[in-house]
Amino acid sequence: MEQYLTWQKFRLPLALLILLLTVESRAGDGDQQSGSGTGGRTVFLAQKCNMCHSVQSAGIEATTKSKKMKGPDLTGIISRRETDWIAKYIRKEVQLDGRDHKKEFKGSEKELAAVISWLGEQTPESTGK
Ligand code: HEC
Repeated sequence: MEQYLTWQKFRLPLALLILLLTVESRAGDGDQQSGSGTGGRTVFLAQKCNMCHSVQSAGIEATTKSKKMKGPDLTGIISRRETDWIAKYIRKEVQLDGRDHKKEFKGSEKELAAVISWLGEQTPESTGK
């Protein structure tokens, strides 16, 4: 009986904790919602774009400490650049002001499409997604 009562006392907090953890892990997974199997956010991080680029709308900070390496924040990039141009630029097929992009994108075409479509969703208004 004693044991049963103790369990009753902890049942609600425990249920809440489990609920919280579930919600938490789902939030970190926001990626899966942006369609196309391979999530663009995952590709972005896997290709280490976040070494040099922050994406504020997605809560991503550039990890490099070097000012020389750091690129611009890519939030709202879609309002400045065509998707085709971005694809070619990060494949080093076109240049910007006579300079190649610092890093060549080595992923597949599918990953390239995913990362660009995800970038397209990163606007100042989309903060938190
Ligand atoms: C080694 C650092 C580095 C890495 C890694 C890197 N970039 Fe960049 N990127 C830069 C720099 C620096 C610039 C700005 C170049 C310039 O202005 O000449 C830039 C520019 C860009 C631009 C154009 C920005 C604009 O405002 O026109 C895009 C788009 C971009 N990068 C996407 C990516 C993506 C996607 C990845 C991952 C596949 C990536 N970058 C990885 C350094 C990096």
